[in-house]
Amino acid sequence: MQFDHVLVVGAGQMGGGIAQVVAASGRRVSLYDAAPGATGRALDAMRRSLTKLAEKGGADPDETIGRVAVVDDLVSASLLIEAVVEDVDVKQELFARADAALPDEAILASNTSSIPIGTLAAATGRPERVIGMHFFNPVPLLRLVEVIRGSQTSEATAAAITQLAHELGKEPVEVRDVPGFVSNRILMPYINEAAWALAEGVADAEGIDTVAKLGFAHPLGPLALADLIGLDTCVSIMEVLEEGLGDAKYAPCPLLREHVVAGRLGRKSGRGFYEYAGGKKRGVDPSAYELLGVHPNGGPRPAEVLQRLVLGILNEAARAVGEGVVRSPRDGDIGAIFGFGFPPFRGGPLRHADDLGAARLVADLERLAERLGPRFAPCEVLQDLARRNAKFYP
Ligand SMILES: NC(=O)c1ccc[n+]([C@@H]2O[C@H](COP(=O)([O-])OP(=O)(O)OC[C@H]3O[C@@H](n4cnc5c(N)ncnc54)[C@H](O)[C@@H]3O)[C@@H](O)[C@H]2O)c1
Repeated sequence: MQFDHVLVVGAGQMGGGIAQVVAASGRRVSLYDAAPGATGRALDAMRRSLTKLAEKGGADPDETIGRVAVVDDLVSASLLIEAVVEDVDVKQELFARADAALPDEAILASNTSSIPIGTLAAATGRPERVIGMHFFNPVPLLRLVEVIRGSQTSEATAAAITQLAHELGKEPVEVRDVPGFVSNRILMPYINEAAWALAEGVADAEGIDTVAKLGFAHPLGPLALADLIGLDTCVSIMEVLEEGLGDAKYAPCPLLREHVVAGRLGRKSGRGFYEYAGGKKRGVDPSAYELLGVHPNGGPRPAEVLQRLVLGILNEAARAVGEGVVRSPRDGDIGAIFGFGFPPFRGGPLRHADDLGAARLVADLERLAERLGPRFAPCEVLQDLARRNAKFYP
């Protein structure tokens, strides 16, 4: 087995989940966090998750947790997976220390959502063995892993990490080192559009989520999903997209920022678009509408909500393929299905775009762009397919 001992650094939402899936694959894990109490909380969360999985036939929780040792500093291992806070200085400092603490042949992987891998590699003397390994939240449940090469990452490193992802039961997709990679690049504009629709009073929060679930078979509505990810995290990823891609259309809707300023960070703070108690989702918090001055405007318009959400996803997925963020339409579809639950029976956004037809999509997007603004302008790839009456898949 490759990587028989993995050092996971950062025991928050992501690090705890990563440690869990690595241990569940039979590997020894050392778990380190700088904050007192963090590893204890991670082990508690791991036990809860493993107990639920065991009820459905998963491995014995004691056996898996028995492979995880809490350590109080960096230790030698054949692989580091870093999941500390999304702060470039903190991550660079950690990579420099890990470079000194781990054997020369060890691979250093980061779970960063937005920091270029090359920036982290530059803090080490082994840039060919530095790579992005981007898991999704909740790690034990979501199957996508984006594998991100920096400009100097070697073929062997990418192959070893791809193989490891398979052995963890995940679906690895190699993506270019560009802001948002592929899954967040598609997901974040979708969440943002849901927030715009809410802000404009097209429907209330539950209405928007219900449309996405019943009208398109998403497992979770976009606003409930945003609460799960954390509204502060969503805002910062959108800012990275806006700045990195140089396009104002990715800027977070003011409503999202207002939620964050008001301390409504989602599930983790007990309130976001919904209220949470004891880790369970309750209804919409009605005071949110008062606080933010949002009122349903002329009753729910489900068809408009559905069109705005779905066409936005298809357009963004097509744009990402056009820019070569993924190697093929299939990888884009896998990113959307396994990264945020795009309904698998539709085959992914690009397969679905083929089913609808590029000409129809372009016409619908142009109408939306006229009414709602340039964020809906059909991307070049779709326009080209429409002109040639062609498809993503042969
Ligand atoms: N939350 C998500 O949905 C999500 C999804 C994919 C990727 N990520 C990425 O994963 C990483 C972690 O995110 P998270 O949501 O788990 O954050 P989190 O805040 O829950 O956990 C971060 C942990 O890192 C610890 N930490 C900070 N500096 C440290 C250091 N120098 N050494 C050791 N430990 C340190 C903190 O004490 C904390 O426990 C970020 O890079 C984030 O962008 C997050």
